[in-house]
Amino acid sequence: MSDMSNTKPETGAFFPRDRAWHAPALTPTYKTSVLRSPQKALLALDNTLSEITGPVFGHGMLGEQDDDLILNFAKPGESAIGERIIVHGRVLDERGCPVPGALLEFWQANAGGRYRHKKESYLAPLDPNFGGCGRTITDADGAYRFRTIKPGPYPWPNGPNDWRPAHIHFSVFGHGFAQRLITQMYFEGDPLIWRCPIVSTIPDRRAIELLIAPLDMANTIPMDARAYKFDIVLRGRRSTLFENRLEGN
Ligand SMILES: [Fe+2]
Repeated sequence: MSDMSNTKPETGAFFPRDRAWHAPALTPTYKTSVLRSPQKALLALDNTLSEITGPVFGHGMLGEQDDDLILNFAKPGESAIGERIIVHGRVLDERGCPVPGALLEFWQANAGGRYRHKKESYLAPLDPNFGGCGRTITDADGAYRFRTIKPGPYPWPNGPNDWRPAHIHFSVFGHGFAQRLITQMYFEGDPLIWRCPIVSTIPDRRAIELLIAPLDMANTIPMDARAYKFDIVLRGRRSTLFENRLEGN
């Protein structure tokens, strides 16, 4: 187990999710939400040990190129086709504290908007050198970084002519199963964001803006790749804070 493994001894239940900030489960303009959303009122349950502890991940589980989607499916000497980008940011909790040792998994369409999946039906071609998924673990500051190509937008069978904006899917495991978050990152300046029926299920415009990664020229690698910055906030804990400085410091 490496230094970055999740060994933080913090305990305590998590803040409840703010349901006015997140998209509601039932949003008929996003057609498949009708069948997938709960039919009965939700019940609140207290956090138990299984929600507030674990999962635990270490860098030992990562492959060498898990954080490089340009190369991790490519033949030797070749690379994925598309706009080369770096996605980076920090995973924080609701108090602004970094979440080290968090497992991030990400998946996306290729530069033409096509997923490598047996049920994918979009006519855009597969890229033989692009698989479309990867993973990494946050460092001691909650920071993460991976390299990929910018995904293309794609049409989907919802309304008569709906298109998804370019996006990367994220799954994040924090310090407890109650922190699990599945989300999507969008790209600054994409006009499809504000036309997307899935994005539109989010009630607060400020919440949508937090899903849009700005172009980050400061971290761009000249003549190689542009950078986009995407911070992720997981549920925080309710535990009382004792963050006073020690006497004499
Ligand atoms: Fe997608």
